[in-house]
Amino acid sequence: MGLRISPSILSADFGHLVDECERVAPNADWLHVDVMDNHFVPNLTFGLPVVEALVGKVSTPIDCHLMISDADRWAPGYAEAGAKSVTFHIEAAANPKQLASDIRKAGARAGMAIKPGTDLTDYEELFPHLDMILIMTVEPGFGGQSFMHDQLPKVKRAREVIKNLDLDIWLQVDGGVSVKTIEAAADAGADTFVAGSAVYQSADPLEAIDSLRALAQSATDKSWWCAH
Ligand code: DX5
Ligand code: ZN
Repeated sequence: MGLRISPSILSADFGHLVDECERVAPNADWLHVDVMDNHFVPNLTFGLPVVEALVGKVSTPIDCHLMISDADRWAPGYAEAGAKSVTFHIEAAANPKQLASDIRKAGARAGMAIKPGTDLTDYEELFPHLDMILIMTVEPGFGGQSFMHDQLPKVKRAREVIKNLDLDIWLQVDGGVSVKTIEAAADAGADTFVAGSAVYQSADPLEAIDSLRALAQSATDKSWWCAH
């Protein structure tokens, strides 16, 4: 049973972005890049030119989490720039089925993210068109917030849908993931974990990734959803 850890560079030192990516690369499966537009969320981070620059310099595949309005218009460009996974917010997409197809055609895995206050059941029919579902476990916008345990039933429900339909898609959680919370997320059904402050604010980021992975793996092995 494979699981993935995706350190979020939102918590990295922006003055040394490439070095910060390389610092975690030996143990990271993906690098999570939070694109924010100060419109969909009240924060502003990186855009397409920064993603393009990172793709050219960093060998770890880039997992772009787009917290931007008008995702239909902008998301495929991130795939064209070389991000291997591009996740849009369902709250910002007018035609999610078409958008997922456009992202895939541009060469990336297509992900759909959902905010804590958004009901998943309205969007379950989209699962077969996607490569990843991202259940936010904080309000999107900032790193360092507390994990919202009340989102775990949503993670569990998403895993049930994936199992019932026998889909080969990843289930990501993002926000407040740490050694204290990752087991609960894995037990509920997540297999792909974003961690910002838990990695970059650690004295030893590589060791922090290893600890997260070990905890997630043992919780998965004991979980209700993992095929033993
Ligand atoms: C929040 C971002 C997260 C953020 C997580 O909107 O989507 O990716 O970096 O940071 P931590 O792990 O510190 O909660
Ligand atoms: Zn994110």
